[in-house]
Amino acid sequence: MDEEILQLLRDHSSEFLSGEQISRHLRVSRTAVWKRIQRLRALGYEIEASTRSGYRLLGSPDLLTPSEIKPYLKTTWIGKTIHHFDTLDSTNAKAYQLALDGAEEGEVVIAESQEKGKGRLGRQWVSPPFLNLYLSVILRPKIPPHQASLITLMAAVATADAIRGFSGLAPLIKWPNDILLQDRKVAGLLNEIHSEIDRIHFVILGVGVNLNAGENTLPKEIRGIATSLKIETGQTISRKAFLPLLLQELERWYSIFIHRGSAVILDAWRGRAHLQGRRVRIVSFGETLTGTAIDVDSDGALILETADGERKRVVAGDVEYKNEMSNVKVQSSN
Ligand code: BTN
Repeated sequence: MDEEILQLLRDHSSEFLSGEQISRHLRVSRTAVWKRIQRLRALGYEIEASTRSGYRLLGSPDLLTPSEIKPYLKTTWIGKTIHHFDTLDSTNAKAYQLALDGAEEGEVVIAESQEKGKGRLGRQWVSPPFLNLYLSVILRPKIPPHQASLITLMAAVATADAIRGFSGLAPLIKWPNDILLQDRKVAGLLNEIHSEIDRIHFVILGVGVNLNAGENTLPKEIRGIATSLKIETGQTISRKAFLPLLLQELERWYSIFIHRGSAVILDAWRGRAHLQGRRVRIVSFGETLTGTAIDVDSDGALILETADGERKRVVAGDVEYKNEMSNVKVQSSN
């Protein structure tokens, strides 16, 4: 019912709506209307109340509810259905369950906070309420499972472009899917796949973007290696303005991937990662490898050349850049 009252107030934003009108429309008592108005105010809605004239909506909080986002959303299919939660263990876990239950491609799960936000390689993704973005998109690509990591590269390109489009800053992608600003991680992606040997049932594309985390709200252990758009721009970021742009970029790049194939995605990824020729140290499945990054292959694996000239194909791991960019150790965690 909160949504119904909000819609009524939005539809009459230039005038007052009396408690009587609202209660008639919603078929509830005026006391019930008043209680709902109080709840909306507690959520951050500025609602003017006058005993003579009724209620008028003056301002809305930066929430990621469907009704706050929809006015900004220009996508065709991603985000047409948005499942919004105040808190979840993990948006990926929720989206996975919804997909198992038959949710459609493009449905999005958003939480204002996560209690067990999942990062890569079993890490935790710190997810405090109302500051950042935590979302998962359900995709059902008709591609072979070995190409699933290209979806991650595609999403890294889309996230980097959304950040650039929104802020004018130029993020760098660190293999496979960390998004960095000034060598510190501003966003990360975690894709989970449900498939058979030769067929993908669905991919859950999980994206976490640090938007308004401040130096003090970032946990101590990651302060040196994580950042946020607010830290980098010095400005509070409107989450409900950023999210539609991110969904738009995801839709655009996913469509490029499906219609034009992986080569375009790999080229776009290379152009934002500047990986070739970097001296790297990679920890992969407990093994530490050093050498020069040659490229990513057609499935998104990193090709590393070791000091003795041997080429190795690395499919997962943590990369640390040895020189060129900086001496700051950049790890995969937010
Ligand atoms: C990484 O370690 O770089 C990946 C982080 C991915 C975090 C996002 S937040 C939304 C989605 N739900 C999760 O539990 N994780 C991803």
